[in-house]
Amino acid sequence: MTDPAFVRAFQAAQAIHALPDVQGFVPIDDAARLSPRAPWLVPAARNMREDTALDTPNPDWRDPLVALWDKVPWRETYRDTDIGDDFMDRFGCYELVGHDGLFVSHKMRGFVVYMPANLYYGWHHHPAEEQYTILAGSAEFEQVGTPPRIMRPGESVFHPSNVPHRTITHDTPLLAWVAWRPPHMDIAPVLTEGME
Ligand SMILES: [Fe+2]
Repeated sequence: MTDPAFVRAFQAAQAIHALPDVQGFVPIDDAARLSPRAPWLVPAARNMREDTALDTPNPDWRDPLVALWDKVPWRETYRDTDIGDDFMDRFGCYELVGHDGLFVSHKMRGFVVYMPANLYYGWHHHPAEEQYTILAGSAEFEQVGTPPRIMRPGESVFHPSNVPHRTITHDTPLLAWVAWRPPHMDIAPVLTEGME
């Protein structure tokens, strides 16, 4: 029997994609098929659930995605890099929709990203086009060629293909929805050499 928590999380993603900026970037794949995977927890999973500072005007964006904290395989994209233990211990990301997602789609990918307060996610890039939408909390976003900007719930930022970008939380944590669209959605992010 389908866990209703999965259905609620997908409905939250559909609601996020009803925002004009997100819809305009990529529609959610309503035909994505639920394919539950064995959970894999990282420290950030529980920290996200227990974080009381993920403020948002719309808890319907946040709560169904946080509720999956112990039901999903969390990603460790940067495990074999020199990004450092602090980042590996505190950064969290899981894929709700996509080719490795709980809901399988090959048309788009949708990730949940959690960063606690005062975390530095350094310069990185990837060929897929990307859009962050802030669900709760806030963070500073910067990309090459654009001044840094503090982003808050309901706001979106676009990252063009292979343009290095970074995210910094200050005194508040961040919960974000990260959408990818083709092409090259199968190529993982890499840290940008020569930039710290
Ligand atoms: Fe990115």
